[in-house]
Amino acid sequence: MDKKYIVAFDQGTTSTRAIIFDNKGTIKNIAQRELKQHYPQHGWVEHDPLEIYEAQKAVFKEVISTSDISAEEIAAIGITNQRETTVVWDKNTGEPVYNAIVWLDKRTKTICEQLKSKNLDEYVRKNTGLIIDSYFSGTKVKWILDNVPDASDKAAQGDLLFGTIDTWLIWKFTNGKIHATDHSNASRTMMYNIINLEWDKKLLDALTIPISMLPQVQNSASHFGEITTNGISIPISGVAGDQQASLFGQGGYKSGVAKNTYGTGCFVLMNTGKKPFKSKNGLLTTLCASLPDGKVKYALEGSIFAGGASVQWLRDKLDVIDHAQDTENICVNTPATNDLYVVPAFAGLGAPHWDMDAKGAIYGLTLDSTKNDIIKATVDAIAYQTRDVLDAMIEDSGKQMKTLRVDGGATANNYLMQFQSDLLNVQVDRPKMLEVTALGAAFLAGVQSGIWNKKDIAKIRQVDTIFEPKITQYERSKKYTGWKNAVARTKSTTN
Ligand code: G3P
Repeated sequence: MDKKYIVAFDQGTTSTRAIIFDNKGTIKNIAQRELKQHYPQHGWVEHDPLEIYEAQKAVFKEVISTSDISAEEIAAIGITNQRETTVVWDKNTGEPVYNAIVWLDKRTKTICEQLKSKNLDEYVRKNTGLIIDSYFSGTKVKWILDNVPDASDKAAQGDLLFGTIDTWLIWKFTNGKIHATDHSNASRTMMYNIINLEWDKKLLDALTIPISMLPQVQNSASHFGEITTNGISIPISGVAGDQQASLFGQGGYKSGVAKNTYGTGCFVLMNTGKKPFKSKNGLLTTLCASLPDGKVKYALEGSIFAGGASVQWLRDKLDVIDHAQDTENICVNTPATNDLYVVPAFAGLGAPHWDMDAKGAIYGLTLDSTKNDIIKATVDAIAYQTRDVLDAMIEDSGKQMKTLRVDGGATANNYLMQFQSDLLNVQVDRPKMLEVTALGAAFLAGVQSGIWNKKDIAKIRQVDTIFEPKITQYERSKKYTGWKNAVARTKSTTN
């Protein structure tokens, strides 16, 4: 039977999905489950790793059974995942020893301060491309070993394994045969040396994490074992963290291409080529998804913690909208107020500010401020935060950017895309197919399994809309100056 389909597993912060693509990159079917968020304490965010695995299994079954495609026709599976989120499990029982600690979780602030007091900032920057922050996996693993009874003893005896969500899924789906990850996910752990491409012994010692816990690191397009469904074995041929997968899906295997994905957070990545680029402006250096030739490329990344999450806050906590989609109409029909700003530092501030202690704030409220003004200012904040990161990227790379490629749920909001272009003074290029993260994972699996090569991939991406900047430089800088003042007032005094 002709094997011409690829299934992408897209395990994100709020949902677990399986998507079937045909060999033209067209979506044939999607199955999806929402993922329960656990907030056991202020600033803590957890997921249940077994729920993630069961949901991934269920959507995989469903996406096949509700399509006219059979398992025999699937050439390969690509996995893409929320990055940094940390699972530690017992390799003998297959049971997690603790819930997954999610990338947004802030509990390891004290561990970060301890690392900083050992003067490891510069070492971490140079060797992992990251900054010392609770965002990354390393301090989360340490927290589990320090706080779960018997965990550090078991880890020392070689009984515990660590993985980001890709690794956890691979291990479960291959019945414990494969303990592996790819370059892009490893580069988000703060334990992986992105220069010599090995786990970093000095950082593992500083965190007291035994190397036996860590997965083998492979090219993103390579063989990660097999998943058996209905008696058919299908290879996992591509793995990448979701932001590097979307960069790949946007054509960012080429140097100079930049994209922003508007998901729970927003993540701007630019492929900077074969040499690591050290940011002077608060950006991260990270590994791109790697191809079978094993040659790694680097990216500059600006990670924004509250993108779609702030619209969810409007919906679920403030209860001022019923659906995220309602915001477009509200924004279009609400006159601009030049001095109302929402700074959504709900999980601190990410790039380029890196302030774990900052808390969200609203500035400029007057007696005539309406809930719609607050909704509009919350949506605008997504574009302002992107400008903060893009400015840093332009300064670091010395390249003036002409176009920003975009994807993710919020790009359906035409108001936001136009405002983004206005504020950046660059073109915003929205493709027809917005499931670019899943497509990137499918591409990696497709390249490895021989369905596609890079040239085919370039042909698959089609432009839907190019948004051109429309406001004057005076308006742009007036708005942005107001934002910068609001951010300056939001930063914690300890920073
Ligand atoms: O670094 C965190 C990122 O990978 C999460 O992505 O799409 O789940 O918001 P997303």
